[in-house]
Amino acid sequence: VEPRKRRPMPEIDMSGILGGKRMRRNRRADWSRRLVRENTLTVDDLIWPIFVIDGEKRREPVASMPDCYRLSVDEAVREAALAASLGIPALALFPYTDDALRDETGSQSLDPDNLVCRACRAIKREVPHIGLVTDVALDPYTSHGHDGLLEGETILNDETVRVLVAQAINQAEAGADVIAPSDMMDGRVGAIRAGLDAVGFQDIQIMAYSAKYASAFYGPFRDAIGTNACLKGDKRTYQMDYHNSDEAIVEAGLDLDEGADMIMVKPGLPYLDVVRRLKDAFAVPTYAYQVSGEYAMICAAAQNGWLDFDKAMVESLVAFKRAGADGILTYFAPKIAKQLAKGL
Ligand code: PBG
Repeated sequence: VEPRKRRPMPEIDMSGILGGKRMRRNRRADWSRRLVRENTLTVDDLIWPIFVIDGEKRREPVASMPDCYRLSVDEAVREAALAASLGIPALALFPYTDDALRDETGSQSLDPDNLVCRACRAIKREVPHIGLVTDVALDPYTSHGHDGLLEGETILNDETVRVLVAQAINQAEAGADVIAPSDMMDGRVGAIRAGLDAVGFQDIQIMAYSAKYASAFYGPFRDAIGTNACLKGDKRTYQMDYHNSDEAIVEAGLDLDEGADMIMVKPGLPYLDVVRRLKDAFAVPTYAYQVSGEYAMICAAAQNGWLDFDKAMVESLVAFKRAGADGILTYFAPKIAKQLAKGL
């Protein structure tokens, strides 16, 4: 059989196609790539979520979140000092509540000496200039793992909001700077604003988890705060359905009308479209939460040698800036801050 002949390459007039336009010119050299760069990640974009636990000198690894620990208050103070020295503007605090202290109504959330309050006081004493963001929701404190009060199978809205207002005031008394309700009850931002104002905390900011989706990506976080084991059912009657994004605009609009100073989208990477829509619609300070599952995915792939850890981390964070986020809650915060200090 005769071998088939290769076709000759066709003559193509590239100048006709390009019309003088060559996108690669600006990409030729590092100085030029820097000069045309549209978005930049800086340490000022970072909020570092940390987990606190009872005890002293305690650093308990979270199995599903490599290099993340449940920290006793003294250790949390040390990490706060480290964060401040790196220039990280703020920490977000999440408690692992002792099982014995969890109950049906999450009453521990109102104890002025609960873990979060003790952590706030200790950090404010030792590291006064770092911002403290506290989570308002009942799930770290309830025996059923839900963010609100449970009656039968129903999470009660208005009754829960009353408790959340008291929880927010309790945190503000302890030194929290930013109250961040993550519970997704209706009307909670307005009620918390009114409650804070009524007792003289009109300067305490509210960062609303406005578009918080019912997501599979929270799994490792629920390990970290110990609610995976006890959570009954799921959170789809209060957290958003991930098929929707118009609804995120309505949610954020309500939160802003009710007095939110900042809005947030959560999870992060799978929801960059929502970040962009909210930023374009409202032009207010907009944050994204790169949640535990996203962190775990990148760490796991890197541990297997399937991803370059540093490069994947930076790329994932810059994506938030490109989508319009003003800042990112990320468990990578200290690592990326160190890299930024060296110059990426
Ligand atoms: C609950 C809360 C959750 C997270 C922050 N606050 C989990 C949930 O809604 O079950 C998740 C954060 C993360 O996954 O990193 N109030």
